[in-house]
Amino acid sequence: KVTAGTDHYVVTQRAATVELIPGTKTRIWGYDGIFPGPTFRGRRGRRMVVTVRNELPVPTSTHLHGGVTPAESDGFPTDLILPAGYSPAPPGHHSAAGRHHDGTRDYHYPMTQRAATLWYHDHRMDFTGPQVWRGLAGLFLVTDEVEDALPLPRDDRDLPLLICDRSFGADGSLTYPQRDMTRPGADGMFHAGIFGDVILVNGAPWPRAEVAAVRHRLRLVNGSNARRYRLSLSAGTITQIGSDAGLLATALPREDVLLAPGERCDVIADFTGLPAGTEVTMGNALGEGPAADVMRFVITGPAADDSRIPERLSALPVLEKTRAVTERQFDFRFGGGRWTINDQPYDPAATLCSVREGTVELWRFTSDFHHPVHVHMAHFQVLSRGGAGPDPGDAGWKDTVDVRPYETVQVLVDFTGHRGRYMLHCHNLEHEDMAMMANFDIV
Ligand code: C2O
Ligand code: CU
Ligand code: CU
Repeated sequence: KVTAGTDHYVVTQRAATVELIPGTKTRIWGYDGIFPGPTFRGRRGRRMVVTVRNELPVPTSTHLHGGVTPAESDGFPTDLILPAGYSPAPPGHHSAAGRHHDGTRDYHYPMTQRAATLWYHDHRMDFTGPQVWRGLAGLFLVTDEVEDALPLPRDDRDLPLLICDRSFGADGSLTYPQRDMTRPGADGMFHAGIFGDVILVNGAPWPRAEVAAVRHRLRLVNGSNARRYRLSLSAGTITQIGSDAGLLATALPREDVLLAPGERCDVIADFTGLPAGTEVTMGNALGEGPAADVMRFVITGPAADDSRIPERLSALPVLEKTRAVTERQFDFRFGGGRWTINDQPYDPAATLCSVREGTVELWRFTSDFHHPVHVHMAHFQVLSRGGAGPDPGDAGWKDTVDVRPYETVQVLVDFTGHRGRYMLHCHNLEHEDMAMMANFDIV
């Protein structure tokens, strides 16, 4: 079903039994019954329609993280796809909002945005943490001609890596602790969010990838519920070329890369000159025990490599502070047993502010804890952090920024794109589920 300029995909959310840990069976909820779900490839300038069919026993909502998406297709937490067969309405009946009553829903992605590494995941209100944990997440790569023209490593030397942590029972089942909000202090274990002791990369525990001793592009995506990573390689070098919303202006050599939940970092790993048989570990300096290792690259030997990191990666306009038409502050804090923004727990019917489409605003995030703050639809640039300039990892267009305890982060947000109701929230999924979200309207 393809119309001119539109690519149509169908994906089914269903339960499946898969082998994540070799030799054990794990029951997951996955897009197309796999974890991660299928990798979508969007092309700038070609519209995409993704029909999501929900064959799970629970409602779902699919959000394209980093997508410049119309509000009706953004995957709002209460904008649910009911399980197929749930509704008494006849199959195929469409409501005005494009909602089908047969357990399917069309998401429209205009793909007007620049090349970037995005991801998609469940966003059901109060249940995003457990539903993503069970497997409802996948990668979504946007390409464009500008990026195609660059001599970056491509094809099998372009490795998107969705990194997340999970824990497993002895029978191979994914374990997500039950929340018992009736016991005082019972949510204490959720304070920092839910962590797993197994690191999965593209669904495989601590995988080994065989690579030639050449440059590779690693698209690092933190798809964890709550875990932050400081990633580095035990040999070779890494150079950052992109962040959440696409390529940087110029490449940035990095010792290591800090990734909070929801963030992406695009790097070139240069294995040139490493002898065959070398094992290069991607380590996580923020992890202890098994969480200190992420994956291994095994060098197969030398090979031809015509890739290089160009001097100039992209034309990236730097937002000036003087462009900001308004300043607002959003305080992320624990209070009254909930995670709040400006003292408010999430209310899907309320809106914290209205902004004008096409304008730039200065948003100031303050916090009592680590909160990876994520804004839907609008991308931003980090202006300052803790009274100083941005960190190296804050470079480029971002949609998620790690706000550290008692730190103030100022960002310039560009609200160009679509009008409608969107949200900002903490991307620690347990904080998000415990109400650390807020709506804003773009008018
Ligand atoms: Cu990746 Cu609103 O989230
Ligand atoms: Cu998002
Ligand atoms: Cu948080």
